[in-house]
Amino acid sequence: MRTCWINGQFVPESDAKVSIFDRGVLFGDGVYEVAAVFNGRLLDADLHLARLVKSQAAIGLPAPLDTAAWLDVMQEVATANGIVEGLVYLQVTRGAAERDFPFPAQVSPTAFAWARPKRLSDDPNAVGVRVHAVPDIRWGRCDIKSTSMLAQVLAKNAARQAGAFEALMHEDGVVTEGGSSTLWMVKGGALFTRPLSSDILAGITRDVTLELAAELSIPVREEAFTVAQAIAADELFLTSATSFVLPITQVDDAQVAGRLVGPITTSLRNAYLARAERLTAAIV
Ligand code: PDD
Repeated sequence: MRTCWINGQFVPESDAKVSIFDRGVLFGDGVYEVAAVFNGRLLDADLHLARLVKSQAAIGLPAPLDTAAWLDVMQEVATANGIVEGLVYLQVTRGAAERDFPFPAQVSPTAFAWARPKRLSDDPNAVGVRVHAVPDIRWGRCDIKSTSMLAQVLAKNAARQAGAFEALMHEDGVVTEGGSSTLWMVKGGALFTRPLSSDILAGITRDVTLELAAELSIPVREEAFTVAQAIAADELFLTSATSFVLPITQVDDAQVAGRLVGPITTSLRNAYLARAERLTAAIV
C-alpha cells in the first residue's frame, strides 16, 4: 500500500483522510502542485513550490509549510514509495469548517501529498498524441493553480471520449492551453506560445522550455495562435511537468504535418530529458 503524507504525518493510503467539511471538498477552495520525479529525485520542485507560494497568496491561504519542509516531504513521499520515474502531487486547502462561503474566522489549512509512478524517459506517448478541441469555459483566474477544475474535468473527459490524449482549449477559436498542459506550435522555424496572463497557467515546463529554446537558438514569439493555425502548423506540441515535451500529431480528425514528429519538438524533448538527467544526477 502507498505511503502518503497528510498534515505532518506519513501514513498508509487508507489512513490518509480529510473531513467532509473540508473546504477543498465543499468548494474546491485550495491549490495544488504536481512535480516530476526523475532518477528517484525531485525535478524543479523548487520552481513548483515558488508557484505554490504565489497560488496560496492569490487566494489568501496561509502557508502550512515552508519550502524547505515541503521539499523534504515531497522527496520522502517519492522515496518511501520507491518512485524512480513519476510524480508527486501536493495540495493545500483552506481546511475544515462549518459550510459558509466566506473564509472562516478559525480554520487551519489541510495539506497532503502523494506520489505515483509514470513513464517519463520512455513515455509511450512521445510518438505523438491526438488532441480534441473544446471551448475554454473556465473562470478569469486561470493563472492560479486552483483545485476548482470542473471545466478541465469536462474538457479532458470529452477528449478521452473522443479518443484523444488531451483537450485543446480555445476561446472563440484562439488557443488558450491544454486541459492540463501548455500548447506550442512551430511555424516557419519559430516557436509560438500564448503570452502569460490570467487566461493561462504559467507553466514551469513552459519556463524551462523557453530557456532550452534560447540555448538552442530557436526563435520564440509569445503570441496567441488559432486552432486553424495549430492544424496548419509545421509542428505542434504540449508541455507539462509530467509529460515534459510531447508531440501532437493530430487535432481531432486533422493531421498535423502528416503526423510526423518534427525536428524542433524532437530537439526540445531531448534537451529537456538531458537537463532532467543532469539536474537529478547532481542531487545526492
Ligand atoms: N497540470 N496548464 C494547465 C491548466 C495545467 O493544469 C498545467 C499542469 C499546465 C502545465 O504546467 P507545468 O508545466 O507547471 O506542469 C498548464 C498538472 C501537470 C496537472 O494538473 O496534473
